[in-house]
Amino acid sequence: MFEDLRVPVLVAPMAGGPTTPELVAAVAEAGGSGFLAAGYLTAGALTERIARTRELTGRPFGVNLFVPGRESGVDLSPYVRRLAEEARRYETEPGEPRWEDDDYAAKVDVVVREAPPFVSFTFGLPSTEDVRRLHEAGSRVIVTVTTPEEAVQAAETGADALCVQGFEAGAHRGLYVDDPENPAGGEAYGLLALLRLVGSAVDLPLIAAGGIVHGADVVAVLAAGAEAAQLGTAFLRADEAGTQPAHRRALAEGGRVTAITRAFSGRPARGLVNRFLTEHSPYAPSAYPQVHHLTKPVRTAAHRAGDPEGVNLWGGQTYSVAPEGPAAEIMARLELEAKAARERVTRRLG
Ligand SMILES: Cc1cc2nc3c(=O)[nH]c(=O)nc-3n(C[C@H](O)[C@H](O)[C@H](O)COP(=O)(O)O)c2cc1C
Repeated sequence: MFEDLRVPVLVAPMAGGPTTPELVAAVAEAGGSGFLAAGYLTAGALTERIARTRELTGRPFGVNLFVPGRESGVDLSPYVRRLAEEARRYETEPGEPRWEDDDYAAKVDVVVREAPPFVSFTFGLPSTEDVRRLHEAGSRVIVTVTTPEEAVQAAETGADALCVQGFEAGAHRGLYVDDPENPAGGEAYGLLALLRLVGSAVDLPLIAAGGIVHGADVVAVLAAGAEAAQLGTAFLRADEAGTQPAHRRALAEGGRVTAITRAFSGRPARGLVNRFLTEHSPYAPSAYPQVHHLTKPVRTAAHRAGDPEGVNLWGGQTYSVAPEGPAAEIMARLELEAKAARERVTRRLG
């Protein structure tokens, strides 16, 4: 599926700002590919971003959508009260904890109309009808999975490939169902284990995601059966990324561990540990996207104040060794590192 890519590296969709048409186009021009993030955008804004990316590159790229889940019946009032206090700290008000479907149907219509070469889904399964519409339009469909069971379900939709997301990954886990009793939302498979289990459960091309920041990691996941590697955190500090300044600074400084939390959005996601995460994680309900909307004005105010302690500092476990600079340089470095790793393995194994 990605046989035509000179470099089997995909820049992950990163909703909420980091993904820009410039970033996706730069990685595509450097021999890889990647995904625009449709999450949180209106259908109109998504259409514009697709058009802008096409102006910047003639190379293939994809679009990624959040599949809406069901509204959880959990009582949000205790967390709303906590957030009211948190909001006072930044002289703002908490947002309304509303459930909505991220304008999903309208955005599926956009991708069917625009027919980018790749369309990927996370947080759940596309309907077989939507997979059929995308195939008719000429797109290949990729579904994100975090367990072998999800992989079997994803294969049944008619998907062409799976994005296998290990627990090392930055930001939201792609889990279909968030188990509130489990702090990680579900079984937390490391990437290599998950590639092995998914590869034996289904016969589909696999894209590997989670903690990949170095060319040697790309070689490792290819050796483990993946066709391409999807990197998010490795591009968060790229010049072309829309990552907010407080987030960039925290990534650059290092020195923090990462943890999985529902504190910011109500769905398990990995971020660098800060005050907000530490204080609120134990109380955060499983209620996405209600908690996302509840915390949004607080996060916006903390960003405006340049305070890294009040924002979601999404990042994978290997964030502290992720590079910065132009995306083309990051790609060139990954390529060189991959070649050196391949030679090392050949020397060792013959
Ligand atoms: C800031 C950020 C935002 C993300 N947003 C999305 C998204 O919109 N859709 C998606 O499928 N994955 C998203 N991801 C997860 C990536 O697809 C991928 O699984 C992850 O970045 C891999 O781990 P790494 O960050 O260690 O490379 C996001 C990751 C980051 C770091």
